[in-house]
Amino acid sequence: MKMKELLLFLYCVLSVSVDGQHSDFHIAGCSDSYGEDVYGLDGEEVAYADFNKQKEIYPQPPFVDPMDYPGGYEQAVGQLQICRDNLQTGRKGMKDFPPEEDVPSAVMIYTRDEVEFGEKNTLICHVTGFYPAPVNVSWTKNQQKVTGSSINVPYPNKDGTFTQISRLEFTPQLGDIYSCAVQHLALTQPLTKIYEVEVSPRSDPGVGPSVFCGVGLTLGLVGVAAGTFFLVKGNECS
Ligand SMILES: *[C@@H]1O[C@H](CO)[C@@H](O)[C@H](O)[C@H]1NC(C)=O
Repeated sequence: MKMKELLLFLYCVLSVSVDGQHSDFHIAGCSDSYGEDVYGLDGEEVAYADFNKQKEIYPQPPFVDPMDYPGGYEQAVGQLQICRDNLQTGRKGMKDFPPEEDVPSAVMIYTRDEVEFGEKNTLICHVTGFYPAPVNVSWTKNQQKVTGSSINVPYPNKDGTFTQISRLEFTPQLGDIYSCAVQHLALTQPLTKIYEVEVSPRSDPGVGPSVFCGVGLTLGLVGVAAGTFFLVKGNECS
């Protein structure tokens, strides 16, 4: 069965830690249908091989001194070949013993920025705790499929599982309903999370708090008045 062949996803993690100051890693992994080659630093992606675009991609923020790996893509292609060869060897050695499969332990959907109606924002679908990589994430808007989302390369977690983050640019309009559906080898049906564009409780607190405050203040004043009244009464009697 084709699925069984996909199960094997070998990977290696090389970690270098300089007195706990920084943590650097390189991961190279493959299955029959998928491969990845990623360099990371302190929990962030520094570079990865894009086997579709056939080049090394450097997803670094503008404020860092650019870090690049000349020849990185060619090296990744070599690594992928080695990984696939090792996979074959491993399969024979393990007599196709099926490796572990973990369904995603958490899927979260949220916006990057605070929602302002009509202002461009990004929806994020954060998937973690799965093995092997990767997952597929698809999006809908008001139950219609939407395209144009992007997804990052599988990022290794400390426990050997992976995280992937899918992003969809969107403009919030009141009442719109979005969903992200996650497919994974170990899932029989997609895991779906819903995001509904609603009036945020922060921008319109309503009358609740003012009523609460008014009633509290009134009760407090009545208490003070009653106290004073009885204090005066008490003094008159004695
Ligand atoms: C993800 O999508 C690709 C391409 O459509 C497909 O070949 C693959 O089986 C899917 N993976 C999962 C885990 O569903």
